[in-house]
Amino acid sequence: MRPFQLTRTLPEDATGAALRADVLHGLTSTPKSLPPKWFYDARGSELFEEITRLPDYYPTRAEREILTDRAAEIAAATGAHTLVELGSGSSEKTRLLLDVLPAPLTYIPVDVSESALTGAAEGLLAERPGLLVHALIADFTRVLELPRTPGPRLVAFLGGTIGNLLPDERAEFLTSVRKLMEHGDSLLIGTDLVKEESVLVRAYDDPTGVTAAFNKNVLSVIDRELGADFDLDDFSHVALWNREEEWIEMRLRARRDVTVKIPELDLVVSFAEGEELRTEVSAKFREQGVRAELGAAGFVPSRWWTDAAGRFALSLATAG
Ligand code: SAH
Ligand code: AVI
Repeated sequence: MRPFQLTRTLPEDATGAALRADVLHGLTSTPKSLPPKWFYDARGSELFEEITRLPDYYPTRAEREILTDRAAEIAAATGAHTLVELGSGSSEKTRLLLDVLPAPLTYIPVDVSESALTGAAEGLLAERPGLLVHALIADFTRVLELPRTPGPRLVAFLGGTIGNLLPDERAEFLTSVRKLMEHGDSLLIGTDLVKEESVLVRAYDDPTGVTAAFNKNVLSVIDRELGADFDLDDFSHVALWNREEEWIEMRLRARRDVTVKIPELDLVVSFAEGEELRTEVSAKFREQGVRAELGAAGFVPSRWWTDAAGRFALSLATAG
């Protein structure tokens, strides 16, 4: 096998078709909403990396702290020869696992962002001559087909990205991940935890406007890909804590009455002043809830670790 392979698991036009379907559905629904996966073109992936360095965005630092402390334990418990990572992005924290998993090791990063995958693989291969990387451009909410590689496998889903799925999507997702796995494989999953509202809101509404730019990037994607004429200045960034659902919601609020043409969809969409478009939920979890969701999908939770401040958790589970 070559040290680097990149496989697009969807036909070339599938991303375009999926974007068209999601935008048509989301912008003609009441209330309006869009799935968060469309943030992540090359610019969106860069903006997310900037978010991870913001002083108030604690999840990345908290998860890195746990991985630093626990990577060796994870390697010993799983003995994995293949690391599959869903929503791998820059693979930056993943290095902590790649450093300790036994050779020979195959790394399978899976992401919708081709730029993130190629950027990450370039760095990893330069640093680690023995590593095999088989990157998949794929949507992890659809049926995944993984390359045949040596087991046991460790499937990692870091960053708290599971919180960007709605509860029914999470259940479906975890069940389909379980089906990909064999007895002896493990799942490592990062979840941000419920905490004080002011800390949560600050993490999603930074004073420098990076998160606002990330949020509005979805409009730039629709402008570029579907020929729409969204003016980003017509919308303001909103981040709020939904206490009942225990999730942060990011929204874009129309600053005035706005009419947008989307030629590729033959669609005209109107926003009344103050109307909001939900662009992301970011669910925050409690230990019992995570255990229950993993159990319901057929996993056996084995370990639960948090950072010293108890802000973020990593769970290890086996494919029971
Ligand atoms: N795991 C990294 C990156 C988190 S950002 C970290 O912890 O820092 C979320 C990543 O998931 C982005 O790289 C984005 O492109 C990817 N992503 C979001 N939705 C996706 C989907 N449905 N399928 C595949 N990748 C997705
Ligand atoms: C990728 N995901 C876990 C991030 C989060 O915190 O929900 C995305 C993000 N949205 C705003 N800031 C960061």
